[in-house]
Amino acid sequence: MSKFGKNEMTRRDFVKTASTALAVTAVSGIVPTFAIGGTAKVKVGVLLPFTGTYAMLGTHILAAMKLRIAQNGDKLGGREVEFIVIDSEADVSKSTQHTNKLIKKEAVDFLVGPVHSGIGMNMARMVKGKKVIMIVPNAGANQITGEFCAPNIFRTSFSSWQTAYPAGDAMLKAGHKKVALMYFNYAFGKQTAAAFKESFIPGGGEIVADMPTPFPKGEFQSYFTKVAALKPDAVFTFYSGGVAIKFMKDYAAAGFQGKIPLWGTFLTEGTSHKAGSASEGILTTLHYSSELENATNVKFKKDFKGATGDEADVFAIQGFDTGSLMIQGMDAVKGDTGATEALTKAMNSSKIDSPRGMFSFSKANHPIQDIYLREVKGGLNKVVGVAAKALEDPAIGCKA
Ligand code: PHB
Repeated sequence: MSKFGKNEMTRRDFVKTASTALAVTAVSGIVPTFAIGGTAKVKVGVLLPFTGTYAMLGTHILAAMKLRIAQNGDKLGGREVEFIVIDSEADVSKSTQHTNKLIKKEAVDFLVGPVHSGIGMNMARMVKGKKVIMIVPNAGANQITGEFCAPNIFRTSFSSWQTAYPAGDAMLKAGHKKVALMYFNYAFGKQTAAAFKESFIPGGGEIVADMPTPFPKGEFQSYFTKVAALKPDAVFTFYSGGVAIKFMKDYAAAGFQGKIPLWGTFLTEGTSHKAGSASEGILTTLHYSSELENATNVKFKKDFKGATGDEADVFAIQGFDTGSLMIQGMDAVKGDTGATEALTKAMNSSKIDSPRGMFSFSKANHPIQDIYLREVKGGLNKVVGVAAKALEDPAIGCKA
């Protein structure tokens, strides 16, 4: 908490509004009244990747968040919105500087980001207990709503554990006992592998090869040589974005498609239609499918396609839901970003009418949500089951 306590932004907004008001008074002689929170724009800082393997993810999150706010008259709590957008480049080493720019120099009200878990953990450490409200529209590191949880840190996406834990069971049910793991070697990939093992090994599964591969490279041949020699029942993965497309194509080119079943979480998301026939038959566990038939999803897919020309995916809906969360919170406090406690409480108790299905937040400000089992058929992630119903992240280490 800053030395001005929860009213810091009200003071700042007041000063901004007051200087505009004084100028008006000087000209017209009329003394305007001040609304709580002022007429100043709400500042939304955005730190997302727009270059590199995660470029498509960041682009979809931002476009859908803007789409949601546009549907609300381009306003939050009745106030206009200013976006200050920085390309994170998915580079952890630049994230302290980028975050400082947004929270100190720009003094944003909301900080939206990131995609990459390493950056997410750094940002969460930096904003914990501060005035700014952080909303994570992707990064899944368990700690963000675990050890680093705080009333001002929200997540509209998923945790590493939440997406991968149900996969262990699902693979056992499919009859796969010996599995090889391949994943990007950084926090999210490692936590994905750990969560998978947590359900897979006690259920009788065996990991025959555990192969982290360097982020953000897409060189898989030496690992595929091992897969060919070991002949596992199946392969479980974490890759995403541009590298995921390359992975699926390389896997098919290595002759494994249809012979060694391929599984994952994000592998086929936003990528299945771009990988051509190489994505056919891949199974994934995730909290969304573009093929869900609820009315919110049907409308969202059409609106998103209209706005961007792209197909909807999980990243887009996470951006859309981030917009909904800000709208609900800001409506509750009538645009007063200074009323931090009331704002964050309203956000925590909000119900999000998401294209993934309705969801609410846990005490740790994390979505309680269904995890679907999907299979790529005709380039689409078709829902073939529910891998876990209303799954809540255990929020290990969260004391808030
Ligand atoms: C992450 O780093 O948390 C991350 C990145 C890309 C994904 C999912 C999670 O698709």
